[in-house]
Amino acid sequence: QTGFTTLDYGFVNTAATKSDITYIDGDKGILRYRGYPIDHLATHSSYLEVAWLLIYGELPTADQLAEFDDKIRHHTLLHEDLKDRFFTALPHTAHPMAVLSSGVSALSTYYENESDPNNPEHVELNMIRLLAKLPVIAAYAHKKSVGQAFLYPDNSLSFVDNFLKLNFGVRSEDYQVDPVMSRALERLLILHEDHEQNASTSTVRLVGSTGADQFASISAGIHALSGPLHGGANEAVLTMLAQIQESGGGVKRFVEKVKNKEDGVKLMGFGHRVYKNYDPRATIVKQSADEVLEQLGVHDPLLDLAKELETIALEDDYFKERRLYPNVDFYTGVIYKAMGFPTRMFTVLFAIGRLPGWLAHWRELHQDPKTKIGRPQQLYTGSPERSYPGA
Ligand code: SDX
Repeated sequence: QTGFTTLDYGFVNTAATKSDITYIDGDKGILRYRGYPIDHLATHSSYLEVAWLLIYGELPTADQLAEFDDKIRHHTLLHEDLKDRFFTALPHTAHPMAVLSSGVSALSTYYENESDPNNPEHVELNMIRLLAKLPVIAAYAHKKSVGQAFLYPDNSLSFVDNFLKLNFGVRSEDYQVDPVMSRALERLLILHEDHEQNASTSTVRLVGSTGADQFASISAGIHALSGPLHGGANEAVLTMLAQIQESGGGVKRFVEKVKNKEDGVKLMGFGHRVYKNYDPRATIVKQSADEVLEQLGVHDPLLDLAKELETIALEDDYFKERRLYPNVDFYTGVIYKAMGFPTRMFTVLFAIGRLPGWLAHWRELHQDPKTKIGRPQQLYTGSPERSYPGA
């Protein structure tokens, strides 16, 4: 059909999902959660306070936050069968993202009779269960990959400190949380909590629109996030930096490979579907990278390499013409590595960060009385009608 504008086709209406949760201005590099600028939240708030804000639309009162925190602390335990048998069924070489997505699906089998998307009590309870148990599954995936025994969650600790202890504590000694690591991880998780209609959030909304429960929708979102062009980029950046270092060819040679599109190589951690300016999250991460590595007493030559790569790329017309700037994934991996996380856990950390946003969008979707099953429009460009030979 000619003469129709995309608006008449409805592409804009169909493609443009309405939401009250997050605002991004890609040209100005603006990111706000429910109207609050991301730098304010990353500096002054906490992961759970921002989670409440994203889900319910307003900052919680002190009592609301205390009750939310307490509920989550008292839902961290996994069913003993799940803890003891699910993980042993998987090879120790399993990628933690695969363990996480399948672990969330396995989790759902314990709550099938309490997962009606139209029952507000079920929805609220399963948000608490996922916020509480997903980090535990993540930590157990890490422990399994390093061959160490699982710890039970410690309800006396905050969300982030409990997660750090589950990852780095061992049964044979007390674990003291490093406050620098704790604050740095809290800030990084806040930066990842939502980002409007990115691929994994759109996946959660699409799956949720079919009537699938939160567990199924979140598991689908984890799979989408694992792709190297999306959440998997933070792992791919560290692999890229290590390859540049090992090649001995230097940054300039690598940048030429990217510009010549040799072997389809990309500058991972650069570019964005929306930000055609500096990703405001990357600015905050870069600022804290120096601070965190210094406070942890870690000097990582890969951070110097990343800075050199950024400087060269930002001055190069190839990247300027394509408006390619560092995104949230460019520096996060260097900090996660300094904290002691294996590279294959980086995208799992992204998933923990993004979980509140996924839950907020899933809930928002179900609040729209006209919720329809998501079905992106298609423009058919295939063969016109034709007859089958002899038909
Ligand atoms: C995340 O959507 C979100 O909000 C996602 C996210 C979130 O919080 O949820 O922000 C998280 O996913 C961040 C992005 C992480 N991915 C990476 O860092 C992987 C590397 N980046 C690229 O794959 C790419 O930049 C994308 C996919 C992220 C965005 O692609 P665009 O902006 O749509 O660009 P494009 O694919 O249309 O390419 C335009 C041009 C092309 O060159 P030409 O064909 O014009 O010659 O830019 C080039 C591309 O080849 N290009 C790159 C590049 N990204 C784009 N060239 C080299 N390195 C890159 N990283």
